[in-house]
Amino acid sequence: MITSPAPCVIAIDGPAASGKSSVARALARRLGFAYVNSGAFYRVATACVLARGIDPTDADAVAAALGGAEVIAGLRAENGGESFLQLDGHAPTEEALRAAAVNAGVSAVASVPAVRALLTARLRALAEETAPASGFPGTVMEGRDIGSAVFPHTPFKFYIDASAEVRAQRRAAQGGGQDEIAARDRTDSTRRASPLLIAEDAHVIDSSRLTIDGVVGEIIGRLKLKGFAIAS
Ligand code: DC
Repeated sequence: MITSPAPCVIAIDGPAASGKSSVARALARRLGFAYVNSGAFYRVATACVLARGIDPTDADAVAAALGGAEVIAGLRAENGGESFLQLDGHAPTEEALRAAAVNAGVSAVASVPAVRALLTARLRALAEETAPASGFPGTVMEGRDIGSAVFPHTPFKFYIDASAEVRAQRRAAQGGGQDEIAARDRTDSTRRASPLLIAEDAHVIDSSRLTIDGVVGEIIGRLKLKGFAIAS
């Protein structure tokens, strides 16, 4: 049983390659929660912009293109309740979402307020409507602004960090296209609309020397302190 305000959302924020995706996915599996990767949503938006030949730094063109896009967001039951997003029929593969051009353009696309408004509404609907309707008792959602802007009232906020060296190593080990993570972090942290920041009430975990299980264990310990009943 979980005692928390509805909907139950566990927010996991942090910079690029901090390990938050692996942690969020493992935590969701452990709790039987839906798992929403909001970064993938911004990546799909970027792939859609690039496919139309639009410059990701042209904010007006990006807003105009995505403002009229057909948006389908959901949770894949066959995949443990992982989120997906389709924009105008574009559903890029995992590999395409990690391409160098997407890495290079995603921070610019994510800084456009109209894009954030569009995707934030979808992210909220997934946790508030889709997850409960699909039988999930809650949602683990990861990103940059989940605890600060998407679900600022959730009592369950975590910020996962790691040293610059460890993050660079993790990204290199993951493969994918070239990714200037320091430049992305700078843009993500300094943009005007919902920048990456540590929410005041977030519990910060430095994952540099921890395994995924170690971080998940620390989160579960905190959740228990906050009233979660979790079988050990
Ligand atoms: O988590 P990721 O590295 O796949 O995210 C890709 C980009 O998406 C990131 O550089 C900034 C943006 N993003 C965002 O602005 N807000 C979120 N909640 C999640 C990601």
